[in-house]
Amino acid sequence: MSVTDPQPPTSDPGADAAKEALHDRIAADSLTTRRDYLRIVATVSGGLAVGGVAVASGILHRHGDAEGAPEVRKVADRIEPGESLAFRYPGDEDRAIAVRMEDGTLAGYSAVCTHLACAVLWRRERGSEGELYCPCHEGVFDARTGEVTAGPPPRGLPKVLLVEQVDGSVWAVGTARSGESAVEGFCRQNGEDRPGCPGFGGGAPAGKPPERSERT
Ligand code: FES
Repeated sequence: MSVTDPQPPTSDPGADAAKEALHDRIAADSLTTRRDYLRIVATVSGGLAVGGVAVASGILHRHGDAEGAPEVRKVADRIEPGESLAFRYPGDEDRAIAVRMEDGTLAGYSAVCTHLACAVLWRRERGSEGELYCPCHEGVFDARTGEVTAGPPPRGLPKVLLVEQVDGSVWAVGTARSGESAVEGFCRQNGEDRPGCPGFGGGAPAGKPPERSERT
């Protein structure tokens, strides 16, 4: 797998504040080092980048201290481009799937079809970047967004938010509902006062982190 690149610089004041907060927190984080923090990239389902490093700092250092926040769980030592991985998250009975697209984007979803709950599979060879497929009634979901592209499923797949550490390990850190952005899901579960969330800094909007494809 290619070396993880740093987040590109941003002129968003909220994002800058989030990065500062991250710098302080991650320096003490047992999972990484101060030097490494610049190389951490957080990628989330559907190609949405949630203020990258801000998410990583808020979760990896403080996980478990917010009521209702999901468990942070390692799901793989690494996932190579074109590979998928089945795992369980957030509960032991909740089927989930992580996929690494050829451009490096990492995405995670519930593997339970929104039609009649069959298991969703990864079809790498389909289209330009693969697809998520439900064999029961030919349901198809966009691998980058989780949205329905064919068949009877009534809504897109709920997302599993994934963070990739500098050593390539992949961690599940939360979920987002169908139709909910990764930022919305993160803030709902971990608290609106986290960097990158609307309530950060006494309620003044910190600026919604850019939602765009993220190469890792
Ligand atoms: Fe997935 Fe019907 S259960 S398409």
